[in-house]
Amino acid sequence: MTTIITNCGEIAHLSTGDITKPISGYEMSDKESLVYAKDNAIIIKDGKIKTINQNDVVIDEFIPWYEGGNIKRSGYDIIDAEGKAIIPGLVDSHTHLVWSGDRYNELSMRQQGLSYHDISKLGGGIKKTVESTRNTKFSKLLSKASERLDIAMMHGTTTLEAKSGYGLSNNTEDILLKVVSSLAETSHCNIFSTWLGAHDFPTDKNKNEYIEELIEIQLPNVYENKLAKWVDVFCEPGWFSLEDTERIVKASHEVGLKSRLHVDEFVDSNGLKLASELGSVSGDHVAFSNDDSRNLASKNGTMQTFLPGTPYILGKKIDLPIQKCIDECWNFAIASDFNPNYSSLSMPFIGSLLTHRLDINPLTSLVASTRNPASTLFDSNEMRGTLSIGSPADLNIIASSYIDGWCQTPGINSISKTMINGIIVNSNKTI
Ligand code: NIG
Ligand code: FE
Repeated sequence: MTTIITNCGEIAHLSTGDITKPISGYEMSDKESLVYAKDNAIIIKDGKIKTINQNDVVIDEFIPWYEGGNIKRSGYDIIDAEGKAIIPGLVDSHTHLVWSGDRYNELSMRQQGLSYHDISKLGGGIKKTVESTRNTKFSKLLSKASERLDIAMMHGTTTLEAKSGYGLSNNTEDILLKVVSSLAETSHCNIFSTWLGAHDFPTDKNKNEYIEELIEIQLPNVYENKLAKWVDVFCEPGWFSLEDTERIVKASHEVGLKSRLHVDEFVDSNGLKLASELGSVSGDHVAFSNDDSRNLASKNGTMQTFLPGTPYILGKKIDLPIQKCIDECWNFAIASDFNPNYSSLSMPFIGSLLTHRLDINPLTSLVASTRNPASTLFDSNEMRGTLSIGSPADLNIIASSYIDGWCQTPGINSISKTMINGIIVNSNKTI
C-alpha cells in the first residue's frame, strides 16, 4: 500500500545538510532551506517518505482519477491535508512518564512561600511520588503510562524519552524501566528509556549507602538486562553533588551506558560543565549554567535541553538564554519534563512558551522540538526528526496552513493528525 498526502500547506521538512546533526543559530529560522511552500504532496511507501513533489504532478502521475478527500482506492491510501501544514513528528527528549500519585496540593504550599527544596524536606516532592509509586502494581503503572503516552501522541509526539526515578530501589527502578520497555514493544511511538536511580535518596539509606547501591546493584541490573540506553543524575545542590554525579556517570560509561543529566536547574553548580567534560549527550534544564559551560557544551557536542515548563509551573520568570544560544550558534533543544509537578505532555505548549514568552521564532522552536532532540536519541543510521526522502514517515498535519501555527494555540491542540512510520495514530478536533 502506498500512502499519498495530498493538498499540503507548508511543509517543514527541516532536512538541510547532514540530517544526523542538529542545526543552530539563524539557520534554525531559515525558511528557504527548511520549509517547502504550499501545494505539494507526500508519497509514503513502506512507512518511509518516498517523494515530496508538486500536488498536481503527483496526482497526474499516480492517481489521475482523484477528486479530493480521504479515500482508499487502487492500492493507494489517500489523505487529504486540505491545505494544512505538515511538520515532523515532535520529539520529547525529557519526560518522567512512569509514576503514580498526586502532588497538586504543592501549589498552595508554594503560594504560601515554600520552595521546591522546602517541600522536599517536608516529605513532599520526589519522595512523596516515590512512596505512591512503590505502592502501585506493575499493571496499574503500565496502564497509566500508556494513557499518558496516548496523550503525548495526541499532541504530536512521535518519539519520547522516559526516565525511571520514582522507585529509588533496585526492585522498583527495575519495575519502572520494565514498564517503559513494555510500552516500547506495544506502542507506535518511538520510545527510549533512561535510568534515573539517582533522582533522590530513599529514606531508608544514607547518601553513601545509596550511591553504593546505585553503582553495585542497580547499574549492573540495568545494563545486564538492557533496561536503558542512558543514565541520568539529578545533579543539584541538595541532591547529587558534582562528585557523586561524576562517580555514577563514569561507572555507567564504563559499561556502555551514555548519559543525559539534570543540571543547573535552580543554581549554577557547574553541572553543565561537568556534563560537557564527561561527554554527556545532553545537559537538561541548564537554566542557570554559565556561558563558559555553554560554550564548552557546544564544543563537546553536549546538547543544551531547556525545559521551560518547570519555571512556568513553579511560578518563576521564564528567563532562559535561548536568544543567546541562537546568537552564539550553541545547539539547543526543548522538552516537556513531564513529571508529577509539571503535568503536561504537550510539546506545542512548550513551543508556545518559547514563542510567546521569549520571542523565539516558531520555526526555530520547531527545530528545537524535532531535529535537534532527535540527534540526542537516535543512532545516526536510524535518525528521525526531519521529513527527508528515505526517512520514516513520522509527521503531523496541523490545524493551520502555516507551519508557524504549530505552537500558537496554547491549551488547545494544534495537531490534527499524527502519523508514525506511515500509520495514522490519531486524529483530533482542532479549532
Ligand atoms: O526535572 N528536578 C528533578 N526532577 C524533575 C522533577 C521531579 C519532581 O518534582 O517530581 C524535574 O523537574
Ligand atoms: Fe526532569
